[in-house]
Amino acid sequence: MDTTLLSEFALRGIKLLRENDRTLFDLLERESRRQSNTLAMVAASSVADPSVLVCEGTAVMNVTTEGYPGARFHAGCELVDEIERLAIERAKAAFSARYANVQPHSGSSANEIVMFSLLRPGDTILGLDLDCGGHLTHGSKASISGQFFRAIGYGLTPEGFIDYDQAARLAEEHKPKLIVCGASSYPRTIDFKKFREIADRVGAFLLADISHIAGLVVGGEHPSPIDHAHFTTTSTYKQLFGPRGGLILMGKDHDQPAPNSKRTLAEALQKAVFPFMQGTPHLNTIAAKARALDMVTSAEFKTVTQRIVTGAKALAASLSGLGYHVLTGGTDNHIVLINVLKSGVTGVIAERALEECDIIVNKNRIAGDQHPPLITSGMRLGNNSLALRGMGAAEMPGCADLIHQVIKSVKPLGTTKYELPENVKLAVRAKVSEYCRAFPLPNYPEDCSEAQAFARRA
Ligand SMILES: Cc1ncc(COP(=O)(O)O)c(C=O)c1O
Repeated sequence: MDTTLLSEFALRGIKLLRENDRTLFDLLERESRRQSNTLAMVAASSVADPSVLVCEGTAVMNVTTEGYPGARFHAGCELVDEIERLAIERAKAAFSARYANVQPHSGSSANEIVMFSLLRPGDTILGLDLDCGGHLTHGSKASISGQFFRAIGYGLTPEGFIDYDQAARLAEEHKPKLIVCGASSYPRTIDFKKFREIADRVGAFLLADISHIAGLVVGGEHPSPIDHAHFTTTSTYKQLFGPRGGLILMGKDHDQPAPNSKRTLAEALQKAVFPFMQGTPHLNTIAAKARALDMVTSAEFKTVTQRIVTGAKALAASLSGLGYHVLTGGTDNHIVLINVLKSGVTGVIAERALEECDIIVNKNRIAGDQHPPLITSGMRLGNNSLALRGMGAAEMPGCADLIHQVIKSVKPLGTTKYELPENVKLAVRAKVSEYCRAFPLPNYPEDCSEAQAFARRA
C-alpha cells in the first residue's frame, strides 16, 4: 500500500513538472542522460542508486523539526525518528562505530562542527596543506578553518607521500589542539595509527576525514580510522554512493571527557551539530543516507570496492606505460594523480578537451604547482563510477588509451585555450558510447543511443 503511494507520488511529480515547467524538466532530463552517457572519472563523485535518489524526493522532506530522535522541538516526528534511528544504526554498523551523527549537511559542515565542538578561535590546528592534497576545511585560509584557527600545514615527501616526520615535528613545535588527517587528492594509504601516536605525544585530538575513501574503509580495502581517531568525518555522496551530506562517527573515545566541559566528546559533538552549527535536519537526505548505508554493507558493494582498487592500479599502470607522470608512481585507492604539464597541457586544457569527448575528469593543483587553481598542472582521476558500472582492471588500458588519444592530439594555445581535431573527438566519443552501452549504470534506465543524440541536439 505504502509503496503504491510512493510510486504514484513520484510519477505524478514528474508529470506535473513536465506539464508545468518544461524548461526545468528538459534540463533535468538532459542531465540524467549526460550522466548515463559519459565516463565520469571525477574522484570526488559517484552515482547514487535510484533507490537512494528517490528517498530525497519523498514527503519526508516536508517534516520540519529540530533536535534528535526522541527529543524533538516539534510534533509529528514519530516516523522520521525511526528513519533517523535507522540511519544512525546503519552508519554505526557499516563503520563499526560506537557513535554516529547523521545530521551534518555536508562533509565540510561535519569538519567545521568537530572543530567548533573542541576549539576556540585562535587555537592551533595541524592539517595537510591544500596544495599537497588536503581539503579547504583542513586549515586553508580560504575557509573558516584557516581564518578562525591558527592553521599549520604539513606536506609531502619529494616522492609525494605524506611526510609523517614533518607532521610529528610540526606537532611538537606548535602543540596543536587538533590534528586533521585525510585528503582530497592523495592516492596512497593513510596511516591513521601513526597520526594517533603523533596526536597523543602532544595531547591533541585527531580528526580523520575519510570523505574520499569511506567506501574502501567499509569494504575493508583501506584501514579504518574509527578507533584511532577521536572523530571521523565523511561526505556521503562520494565513495558511499549516497546523497549530498555528511556523517560524523566516533569509536572507542566517544565517552572521553570533552575539553572544558562536563560532557563526553560524543555529547559535546551532539550539541555542536544542533543547536550550535545547524538547524533543522534534512530528513529526506537522512532517509537517503540510511538507504546508501545499507547498500554499502552488501556483498555486491564489497566487490565494487575491490574493483575500485584493482581498477585504479591498472589505470595508473597503463597511463604510466603511455608515458604519463603518475604522482607517487601509482595508487592504493581510487585516485590517480597525473602531472599533465609534463605531457604538454595544463590541467584545465586536459579537463576541457576530455569533456568534449565525454570523459569527465578534474584539474587539480599538485605539490609545488606554479599555476592557479583554475588552471593547474595536474589532473585527478578517480574510478568510483566506472567500478560501479562494472569496469575493472581489464577495461582500464582502453580507458587510458582514450585519455591518451585526446591529450596527445590537443594543440595548446596558451594555458586555457586549445584546438582538438574533430576526428579525434568523434572517434573517442564513439568509443565512450560503446563503453557506456556495454557497462550501463546499474539500475538506471538504458537508452544510450537515443540519449546521445538528445544530449547533443540540446
Ligand atoms: C577530504 C574532503 N573533505 C571534505 C570535503 C567536503 O565535502 P562536501 O562537499 O560534502 O562539503 C571534500 C570534498 O571534496 C573532501 O575531499
